[in-house]
Amino acid sequence: MTDAARLLLDRHGDAVRADVALILGSGLGALADAVEDAVATPFADLPGFPVSTVTGHAGRLVVGTLAGRRVAVLQGRAHVYEGITGAPLTAGVRTVAALGVRTLLATNAAGSLRPEVPPGRLMLLTDHINMMGINPLTGPNDDALGPRFVGLGDAYDAELRTHLQATATAAGVPLAEGVYLAVSGPSFETPAEIRAFRTLGADAVGMSTVPEVIVARHAGLRVGAISAITNLAEGMSDTALSHEQTLASAVDGARALQTLLTAALPDLP
Ligand code: HPA
Repeated sequence: MTDAARLLLDRHGDAVRADVALILGSGLGALADAVEDAVATPFADLPGFPVSTVTGHAGRLVVGTLAGRRVAVLQGRAHVYEGITGAPLTAGVRTVAALGVRTLLATNAAGSLRPEVPPGRLMLLTDHINMMGINPLTGPNDDALGPRFVGLGDAYDAELRTHLQATATAAGVPLAEGVYLAVSGPSFETPAEIRAFRTLGADAVGMSTVPEVIVARHAGLRVGAISAITNLAEGMSDTALSHEQTLASAVDGARALQTLLTAALPDLP
């Protein structure tokens, strides 16, 4: 139980219990506004939570009902490039786990290494490559939360992926699949890095999600993750990369993501 979870349960009781968590990435926060009977708490009011400094990240935990499911929405997240490591990087996922969450659906904005998956499209993550240079579980292990050594062989749950693909097909939302490579940022990659990452087997590149997935697997949560592609990775097109470009391009992906997640929630395994 994190301090933040205890505070929320003391304040709101069962109104903050949920079984599915959503993490909404850069420019993808709008889905939180659709949550009914919402209890919204700014991260700044939650002990142990880092306060996000990035535009496009509201920094709120919104608990309520979405498509008939009890959801806890982390609207905004902590990033390694903000200098956040250690416990504050784990607070969000551990808090929602303590509120009852058993399934995590993480989203992010990412660059595509596949020309046939252009900006505006979604990519379902099948696996990841951690090039962040950090692991959120570094340091003493709390055996009550999870094991010292966590297997990541099946980090991106197969049954969840099948359900998301079936939902996407039914909803007419194209959903590519691929491997997400995480860098710490905040600089974007060089063209040489992107060529190297393609050789390593990456299909998308971004600056988030991997820490949360690792913490979620440590806590025994089932995990699914979707990238909203906001750009072709550096060196693959003439578009200059910037955070503004990411946020502007996240709009199309956000709409598709909202359709997909809302449709997937009722029968989510
Ligand atoms: N690289 C890293 N992170 C990103 C990108 C990218 O091209 N696009 C959105 N987030």
